[in-house]
Amino acid sequence: MKLKNILAAALALLMTTGCNAQNKQEVKSSNNKKMNAIVIFFSHAGDNYSVGNIEVGNTKIVADYISEITGADQFEIVTHKYDGMAYMPLIDLAKKEAAAGELPPYEGQAPDLTKYDTVFIGGPVWWGTYPQVMFTLFRDINLDGKTVIPFTTHEGSGLASCVGDVKKAFPKANVTKGFDIYGHEVRGGKAKVEKWLKSL
Ligand SMILES: Cc1cc2nc3c(=O)[nH]c(=O)nc-3n(C[C@H](O)[C@H](O)[C@H](O)COP(=O)(O)O)c2cc1C
Repeated sequence: MKLKNILAAALALLMTTGCNAQNKQEVKSSNNKKMNAIVIFFSHAGDNYSVGNIEVGNTKIVADYISEITGADQFEIVTHKYDGMAYMPLIDLAKKEAAAGELPPYEGQAPDLTKYDTVFIGGPVWWGTYPQVMFTLFRDINLDGKTVIPFTTHEGSGLASCVGDVKKAFPKANVTKGFDIYGHEVRGGKAKVEKWLKSL
């Protein structure tokens, strides 16, 4: 399977040379194909369930592991709508947004994805799926023909509806089995993420 070869090559290269998001290597698979991957993610820093008031969101930590391990670029979906909100009001607001199918705007422009063949998509589970602002970006990008790898952080729901919702948003993409990890485990969870990447 091509993706397996690509990620195996990325991991092998890391072990011999090391790489990170700031200093990416040109990674090639065993069939000499460049790995062109990007991690698209949303993550909410601040007051949250189980982890308290965090400076870096749980999903961002996982996104950073993926980039560090594979050399993938990143696009962070940013909104200031939830800045400074306490957990309970945020829960209420997110529930209303999801029920109404709102599409809150994100900062900046949608990324140009033409050069990528592999797209990791990650976010927290909010009320059983990804936060609505992620669906705003989904509306604006085209992943036809690309390999799409969903992941979540959560506090009990696992992948919830995220993989199915990504498939609905991108019916012409090759959406793989997803990966999930508890939000309160991510700070000690790099080995788990690495093991998952090796299994792809
Ligand atoms: C508005 C909101 C809704 C949430 N809904 C769920 C949920 O339905 N299921 C779940 O397991 N965790 C839920 N959580 C917990 C988050 O998914 C979890 O803390 C996640 O790791 C946060 O990631 P982040 O720091 O990257 O935003 C919710 C958290 C918030 C703030």
